[in-house]
Formats: sequence, C-alpha cells, structure tokens
Amino acid sequence: MRDVGKLAATVLEMIGEHIHPGVSTDELDQKCHVFMTEELDCTPAPLNYTNSESQPPFPKSTCTSVNNVVCHGIPSHSKILRRGDILNIDVTLIKNGFHGDTSKMFFVGEPSVLARRLVETTQECMYRGIDTVKPGSTLGDIGYAIQKFAEANRFSVVREFCGHGIGRVFHDAPQVLHYGEPNTGMVLKEGMAFTIEPMINAGKRFVRILPDGWTVVTRDRKLSAQWEHTILVTESGREILTLRDEESHPRVA
Ligand code: MF3
Ligand code: CO
Ligand code: CO
Repeated sequence: MRDVGKLAATVLEMIGEHIHPGVSTDELDQKCHVFMTEELDCTPAPLNYTNSESQPPFPKSTCTSVNNVVCHGIPSHSKILRRGDILNIDVTLIKNGFHGDTSKMFFVGEPSVLARRLVETTQECMYRGIDTVKPGSTLGDIGYAIQKFAEANRFSVVREFCGHGIGRVFHDAPQVLHYGEPNTGMVLKEGMAFTIEPMINAGKRFVRILPDGWTVVTRDRKLSAQWEHTILVTESGREILTLRDEESHPRVA
C-alpha cells in the first residue's frame, strides 16, 4: 500500500505542468495513462470499472472534474480547459494487487477569489479529517472535523459520495462519510486503510448524475472542489500513503 500510494502521488506531480488553457481533459488523461502503464508499470483502476450492473463501465483511466462537476468527470477531447477553471484529477493505481487512490485540485490560470477560497478550504477540510485519525478515534470524528470546517466557511458537504476502505479492493468497507458527529461510528484500529476525499460545494450540497451514468454535477451549477488521500492507521496515529513532495503536511503523525 505504501509503494502504490507513492506511485499514485507521482502521477499528480507529473501532470501539473501539462495543465494550461486550451488543453483537453482527454489529453491529460492520455498523458496520465501512458505514465501509469509505461513508466510506473501499474494498472489504472478506473478504466472499465463499474460499481453495478446498471452502470456503464468507466471509459477512461482518470477522472477529470471541472468547475461544477463534483466528481467522476469523464475525460473528453471536447472538454477544453479555459483560464479561470478549477480542475480535479483523480488517479487510482493498482500495483501488485494493491490500490492507491488520490486526487488534487488544479487552477487553470488565475482563479477567482471564490474558487481559490473553495479549493483551499476543501484541502484544509481533508487535512483536518486526516488529523483526527488514530487508533481509538472514530469515523464520526473524521466526518465531524470536515463538516465543521466546511460549514464554518459557508460551504456545503456533498452527502451522496464518500471515502472508502481500500486495499486489494478499490471500494471496500467501511464508508467514510465527510459529515457526522464526534465519537460515533466505527472505531479505528491499527492496520486499517481508507480514503478521505471530501467534496465541498460553493452553493447547496445537492447533486445530480448526468445521463452518461457517471458525471456528478452540482444541482445549482455552482463550483465544487475535492481532494483525496489514502490513509493508513498506524500504532501512533496515521500515515498519508499518497502524500506528494509539494505538501507541507506531515506524512506520519
Ligand atoms: N477514484 C474515485 C474514488 O475516489 C473513484 C472513481 S471510479 C471511476 O473513489 F470509475 F470513476 F473511476
Ligand atoms: Co479517487
Ligand atoms: Co476514492
């Protein structure tokens, strides 16, 4: 899990310099695909992934979610990035049977004041959730820390999607909700691995899924942001398995 987590982090480190106005999300996906398969010798977990019989297989290797897209955006040659857009790229790698799942937000040119505040607040929500993790704390502690900081900043927490257990399985139990009450839900134990991946909206929390069966958008068409890390519960606290060099947050606490 540590190995694949570090590899997943390098995909997000690699792709940053390719994000400019005029680039399509499909071009970014192709760059990530080649890097994951040829440089890292990994399998991109999203490609052909499905949760249910009724859902079409996901057709690309990464999720690219722009502006009012909350998550699960499908890379497309017709989705051209413009100055001022905000973009989430979500990568999940499989190496030796284990999964590493992580995402980050990118600015295309200069963001608006609101867009920057939403993106930075959402990252801080993720870190505050991560910082609660230790043996004996609960899933409710994570959700509470995230919800409290988001709502204190007058943003809203998406309820329909959540973090998840991860390991040999991509989306395993438990569900890691990004809202909740302290001292409730599953008690954390050393050796557990799961993601924390808050989706925070600038407007109301409500979402809908487009007819493509994947793309999740805000109902009010306002901006949404998401950040994701894969976390291991350790004896002393937690380790961020997908930490990037650019991050100042401690890997181990
Ligand atoms: N990476 C997403 C997550 O954080 C899941 C993407 S599923 C896909 O759980 F099929 F859309 F790729
Ligand atoms: Co992900
Ligand atoms: Co995930």
